[in-house]
Amino acid sequence: MLRKMQVKSATFVKSSQAISQCPEGNLPEYAFIGRSNVGKSSLINMLTGRRKLARTSATPGKTRLINHFLINDAWYLADLPGYGYAKVSKKERELLSGMIRDYTLTRQNLICLFVLIDSRIPPQKIDLDFIDSLGKNRVPFVIVLTKTDKISQKIKNRNLELLQEHLSATWEELPLIIESSTVKGIGKEDILSLIENTNQTSGFLTDSDEKRSGN
Ligand code: GTP
Ligand code: MG
Repeated sequence: MLRKMQVKSATFVKSSQAISQCPEGNLPEYAFIGRSNVGKSSLINMLTGRRKLARTSATPGKTRLINHFLINDAWYLADLPGYGYAKVSKKERELLSGMIRDYTLTRQNLICLFVLIDSRIPPQKIDLDFIDSLGKNRVPFVIVLTKTDKISQKIKNRNLELLQEHLSATWEELPLIIESSTVKGIGKEDILSLIENTNQTSGFLTDSDEKRSGN
């Protein structure tokens, strides 16, 4: 049975420029990644119920560092910079993608990566390539389709089918795909129960942690 998760506390821990600066990896961690402006920071705010916890912006390229948030004193959320933002210099783009690569491949306590994809557009090469690289490196992930409030059901479903078609070319079993809208509050429960259930089975939490988080 799926357990429900309540976010009782959510605090900003720190911003890091490199994995060596990230908080000690002693708690389970979930990170949000995807193209610039896809809605990563907004999603973190929706999940935690704190409108201004992660900084959001209408202009892409807002998040440039790895931002850690501690939830219920028991697990971390990490907000990552977006990939594929054209308006930064080549040097900075390489720096950012190196940082993302480093983080996703070597962060020991990263339990699951949430890969955000804009539900309004057909699958983009940059997203498919990124997902491919996760598969090759065996990084666990789920896909979140964002901004579903901004399009019709029909277009959303068409884009979803195209994405599934692309993925089935390489994946025997399709990755989990969750729909979300931070405007309508869609996806919050699904994502939080997934995290809660994964926390229970990840072997990270001790009995006293469980008592403290009220389960
Ligand atoms: P970077 O940090 O620049 O990579 O962007 P990000 O992926 O963190 O995106 P952010 O959360 O800053 O959101 C970008 C813009 O999309 C903001 O103007 C948000 O208000 C808007 N937005 C995010 N999610 C949704 C959604 O579900 N629905 C709608 N309508 N707008 C959204
Ligand atoms: Mg952001």
